[in-house]
Amino acid sequence: MFETIAIVGATGAVGGIIRKLLAERKFPHKQIRFLASKRSAGTTIEFAGKTYTVEEMTPEAFRGIDLAIGSTPDPVAKEFVPWAKEAGCVVVDESGFWRMDPTVPLVIPEVNPEAAFTHQGVIASPNCSTTQMVQSLKPLHDAGRVRRVIVSTYQATSGAGVEGQRELIEASRAALDDQAHQAKTFAHSIAFNLIPQIGSHKQDGYTSEEIKMVLETRKILGDESIQVCPTCVRVPVSNCHSESILVETERKITAEEARELFAATPGLKVVDDLANGQYPMPNNCDGDDTTFIGRIREDLSCENGLAFWCVSDNLRKGAATNAVQIAELLTRNAAAV
Ligand SMILES: NC(=O)c1ccc[n+]([C@@H]2O[C@H](COP(=O)([O-])OP(=O)(O)OC[C@H]3O[C@@H](n4cnc5c(N)ncnc54)[C@H](OP(=O)(O)O)[C@@H]3O)[C@@H](O)[C@H]2O)c1
Repeated sequence: MFETIAIVGATGAVGGIIRKLLAERKFPHKQIRFLASKRSAGTTIEFAGKTYTVEEMTPEAFRGIDLAIGSTPDPVAKEFVPWAKEAGCVVVDESGFWRMDPTVPLVIPEVNPEAAFTHQGVIASPNCSTTQMVQSLKPLHDAGRVRRVIVSTYQATSGAGVEGQRELIEASRAALDDQAHQAKTFAHSIAFNLIPQIGSHKQDGYTSEEIKMVLETRKILGDESIQVCPTCVRVPVSNCHSESILVETERKITAEEARELFAATPGLKVVDDLANGQYPMPNNCDGDDTTFIGRIREDLSCENGLAFWCVSDNLRKGAATNAVQIAELLTRNAAAV
């Protein structure tokens, strides 16, 4: 057991769900601490029926902490992870900063749990849009080897944190009231709109979010040959990312076989009855830890192609749940030694 645990970025959108999950899942610990920036230090938050004061994240704050789940912006994670390691604290990190470091395992517990045990003090949790896609690719890859993926995402505003959630409401209210609204978190107004850019321009016309989906998929599945062509789009949905995924496999996988493979995979749930209007949608996946798959069909344009629709709660399985599951893996391993 890790005696003293901490959430770094405890006041954020993901941090709030981590707090809820640690309490719900009765994560074993003796003491818990909550760290954030100077802005929130001194404010109070609730955990398991008790009130705690948020502490400022400083190098000294990590003394005595055995395990930290970090959920901060990338530059903050770059700064605090060495402080935590120096203090002997193991970190499960949600940010993008450490994911592609070759010494840092990038883990989805249902996909590559064994990688977690190779850690050297820090384990990364993948990008939210990557996690749900890779969960669905894993059984197809094992059964028929995935060669190529074309994915279009429909990403919720909560993917941009507390400020993204707030901006959807404020911009929508302003649009309905015919008032001007200045976009801050997003590059353009998100109200009644779609924005085909998530992250910064990275390379060859792709954004940073899209390149994450390419590189993280290969790292988690341990196969550098998988080709991924993503288009990431911000949509005016409050929570849950949706993805339209087209997969080309080396061996043909029929829609029927895919349905069986998905249904037999822990963490996935098939909702696929087009005739009766049953498929996953953000509104019916919100608050769930499962990744939902529907609209499973064979590609009409390519012999070994399979198309499907995938929805997952980005704040839960795309972030908080995955990180807490990684922490639980470490706890179980420590208990087994
Ligand atoms: N949202 C998602 O769906 C999602 C999914 C997967 C991964 N992630 C990643 O998870 C991380 C957090 O995302 P989020 O959506 O929860 O963002 P958020 O709502 O903006 O929360 C950010 C958290 O980081 C803290 N923070 C900011 N600057 C800090 C500093 N200088 N020192 C200490 N703490 C600081 C904030 O504390 P204050 O309240 O004091 O500002 C807040 O607790 C990001 O790296 C994001 O890319 C997010």
